[in-house]
Amino acid sequence: MDNILSYIDQNKDRYLRELTELLAIPSISVHKENAPDIQRCAAWMAKHMDTIGLENVQILPTAGHPLVYADWLNAPGKPTVLLYGHYDVQPPEPLELWTSPPFEATIRGDNLYARGAADDKGQVFIHLKSIEAYLKSTGALPVNLKLLIEGEEEIGSENLEKFVHDHKELLTADLVLISDSSMFAKGVPSICYGLRGLVYMQIDLVGPNRDLHSGSFGGAVHNPIQALAEIIAQLHDEHGKVTIPGFYQDVRPLSEKERNAYKKLPWSDKKYAHELGVQQLYGEKGFTSLERVWARPTLECNGIWGGFTGEGAKTVLPSKASAKISMRLVPDQTSARIAKLFEQHILKIAPKTVQVEVHNLHGGEAAITPIDSPGVMAAVAALQKGFGKKPLYQREGGSIPIVVQFKEILGLDTVLLGFGLPDENAHAPDEFINLDNFFGGVRTSVHFFNELPNYMN
Ligand code: BES
Ligand code: MN
Ligand code: MN
Repeated sequence: MDNILSYIDQNKDRYLRELTELLAIPSISVHKENAPDIQRCAAWMAKHMDTIGLENVQILPTAGHPLVYADWLNAPGKPTVLLYGHYDVQPPEPLELWTSPPFEATIRGDNLYARGAADDKGQVFIHLKSIEAYLKSTGALPVNLKLLIEGEEEIGSENLEKFVHDHKELLTADLVLISDSSMFAKGVPSICYGLRGLVYMQIDLVGPNRDLHSGSFGGAVHNPIQALAEIIAQLHDEHGKVTIPGFYQDVRPLSEKERNAYKKLPWSDKKYAHELGVQQLYGEKGFTSLERVWARPTLECNGIWGGFTGEGAKTVLPSKASAKISMRLVPDQTSARIAKLFEQHILKIAPKTVQVEVHNLHGGEAAITPIDSPGVMAAVAALQKGFGKKPLYQREGGSIPIVVQFKEILGLDTVLLGFGLPDENAHAPDEFINLDNFFGGVRTSVHFFNELPNYMN
């Protein structure tokens, strides 16, 4: 173990140089024009996996962006870990809000800033560097490993479920390991055992058949932007509850045990509000902030557009208005049912003055992972060694829909071992990974592989 850990120490600078190379590739999955970058990123990953000693490295095409697969299966009788992550990233815009360019990784203080630094290239790289350290300093791993790194996570993992269905044999394992979430706070390692689900909708409204002069027509025709605002405003009541009939019907209530556990976590609403620059927090009445984010379903308007948004003033009564609305789900809601309830409700409350279309863009289910599984016990031991502190247990508000599919299709439980931070600016300007978390993560990964066989069989 000492050899491996000192290998990591001796190679720190090179590790960061390589990560900088990886982060320089703008593998933005949502933009068609970045398709060559996606290919280049998959190729970079594959080559790197080969260099560090992984075997059977393959770039596997899908109907969308390719998957990168590799394995190391030379530990007969030992457990097999399926490591999942994603090499695609969110678009970096708005560019002017980045302190340094998004695809030029830059260290300031203890953080390395770049798009994908935490979500999720940096966290995938943590494991690649731990695997390298193990293989280069001992020639072997204490477990069998399969890596599956996808390029479509940020756009809903559209082709992954089918791939998993079609490749059950290739993906047989004892557990799934994912590092694509955060620690509770800096210096406070945690095990995540819950993720919310998601359903992402778009509403398109059409009013008059063309843009109109707002002086000549305003007052006699319902402005579709106003109609849309009226619809959106009705989706929450004065207690912060979502008003869609049946929305809460399948929600699994929080147990007293879980609520009490949350209350013991080091948390301050005041500090949270202050850091976010809001005077006051908002949310569903009767629940704490952590409960609202981790264990209650919510509805958010992600974007709204229509009419004139250019510089200066133009008087117009626009023909169209649209909004993108997502709902975060918790067990035992299902994305299909919630999408249907949403659509029915919108069609019902929409005024007759406009035509409405509702589209379901994508969805995924919430996950609760067992906290007494062998994988989690090994992860607790590993975090304790990697960060020198006992981890606490938390849920997250974000979504990784494949977690439930791994359980349903492959029968595998997932260990969510996150090395990000709550203020890492994922999906936003100035995304970063904290360097202590990065190297603590590499050490934790090494300890995880080392500990796991002790907890299995
Ligand atoms: N890494 C995140 C998921 C995440 C976010 C986990 C926050 C824990 C805390 C992932 O890359 C992501 O952004 N997922 C999307 C969902 C997907 C279906 C587009 C999300 O949560 O919005
Ligand atoms: Mn992610
Ligand atoms: Mn993400």
